[in-house]
Amino acid sequence: MRTLVFATNNKHKLEEVQALIGNKFQLKTLEEIGCTDDIPETGDTFQDNASQKSRYIWDRFQIDCFSDDSGLEVKALNGEPGVYSARYSGSRDPEENLQLVMSKMKDVSDRSASFKCVISIVLDGKEHLFEGSVEGEITNTRSGSAGFGYDPIFKPQGYDVSFAEMPAEEKNRISHRARAVEKLVGFLNQQ
Ligand code: IMP
Repeated sequence: MRTLVFATNNKHKLEEVQALIGNKFQLKTLEEIGCTDDIPETGDTFQDNASQKSRYIWDRFQIDCFSDDSGLEVKALNGEPGVYSARYSGSRDPEENLQLVMSKMKDVSDRSASFKCVISIVLDGKEHLFEGSVEGEITNTRSGSAGFGYDPIFKPQGYDVSFAEMPAEEKNRISHRARAVEKLVGFLNQQ
């Protein structure tokens, strides 16, 4: 079985992706390879950030690895919060970030938004990129308590509920991350 590092310390995310990948690759977290570095994430795009993280691991450890970067893009806010999704308000508090989007969207009629996810994988030193996105809109009021981040104010196209009102299995079937991971799994199955 080939070892593949997922540049995350989120065990839950790792187990979810491991189940999709099967037993051809054994996933390891950063902690499991003894990496406690504060990996730089200074790009202007999801792709730059994902690449930065996977290339950093490859350069430092020469181990096959992948990383993801994701966030919310709101059309009327010119794509904000984008790569700044985790710290849009200046704080890492998801509630403050959500409130800022809601206040900027007050009285705005075009409510289109999308979640995007980019995965960068470096195998034998060569990088491959996979993208996933889900279109939807920013709701006027928040609803639901499942999920995380901006889920209570994002309603995916074709649904009457927010991401935070959906059971996890349903969100995980249609989300930006699920779509990017699906492409990654297809690629790994060909290796
Ligand atoms: P990361 O790429 O997992 O670090 O996500 C960056 C930020 O984007 C998170 O802190 C959230 O604010 C936002 N985000 C990414 N994916 C989701 C999602 O599925 N739901 C809600 N917010 C998300």
